[in-house]
Amino acid sequence: MKIVETVSEVRQCVKQWRKEGLTVGLVPTMGYLHEGHKSLIDRAVSENDRVVVSVFVNPTQFGPNEDFESYPRDMDKDSALCEDAGASLIFHPQPEKMYLDGYSTFVDMDTITKGLCGKTRPTHFRGVCTVVSKLFNIVAPDRAYFGQKDAQQLAVIKHMVRDLNFDIDIVGCPIIREEDGLAKSSRNTYLNEAERKAATVLSRALSEGKKFMADGEKKSSDVKKIICDIISSEPLAKIDYVEIVDWNNLEPVEDTEGQVLCAIAVYIGKTRLIDNFVTL
Ligand code: PAJ
Repeated sequence: MKIVETVSEVRQCVKQWRKEGLTVGLVPTMGYLHEGHKSLIDRAVSENDRVVVSVFVNPTQFGPNEDFESYPRDMDKDSALCEDAGASLIFHPQPEKMYLDGYSTFVDMDTITKGLCGKTRPTHFRGVCTVVSKLFNIVAPDRAYFGQKDAQQLAVIKHMVRDLNFDIDIVGCPIIREEDGLAKSSRNTYLNEAERKAATVLSRALSEGKKFMADGEKKSSDVKKIICDIISSEPLAKIDYVEIVDWNNLEPVEDTEGQVLCAIAVYIGKTRLIDNFVTL
């Protein structure tokens, strides 16, 4: 496995693979890799001849008061995980090489970036769409892999690929969880012991909501209430949002028939965590 920092080195590698008729998968990440990321890499390795993992804490997707500086980084551990999983190349650029002096072009999206996480993080998806477009142009993979953990991000990327005619298959992968149900996340490292325990309230609340729906509850507002009540019973938790939306267009729905995304964002102490499920 190679680790490279420049766009031209990535292009050289991919060009060689293409000459050999090989297929290429891309797994975009911000590093500090865990089992969730590994599941994407495993899937990519099983479906492509070569896999590129990008490790880049992307400054443009963080808001001014967010955790860009403190976001955890551990390149040695990340490279070991990628090598073990069978990746062929890590692309680990420096921010000033991704965003050259005077950088001023962004990929922005209306509609589905505005709700859910877009409300609290108004510039987040602009940064995500921009960096993912750049990665797509740099690597030009056959397939790219994204986790259902960031459900809105997955929907946004699928929409962007359709809108901008990227010739890339977007593969969504299931959420990987800790044993007690907490969705794995690089940000879980911010939690102290008490917060870590409290954080299980996200998956517990979602499970109850899902059960309630499976038992025949159709009104979104009633399902949301069950979820909100459970989260509110945890003193360390503060709800950012609890939403039920159509999985196809992320528009809020009044009833839960059809394929819906039930998505939540909750502060546990100062750490904002997200989780979700999709029906059907
Ligand atoms: P990051 O948070 O590092 O996540 C990289 C990919 O791993 C995303 O597609 C995310 O959904 C997936 N992932 C994270 N935790 C997961 C879990 N518990 N189960 C399954 N998949 C999981 O998402 C980003 O980085 C960035 O926004 C990025 C797309 C790289 C653009 O900068």
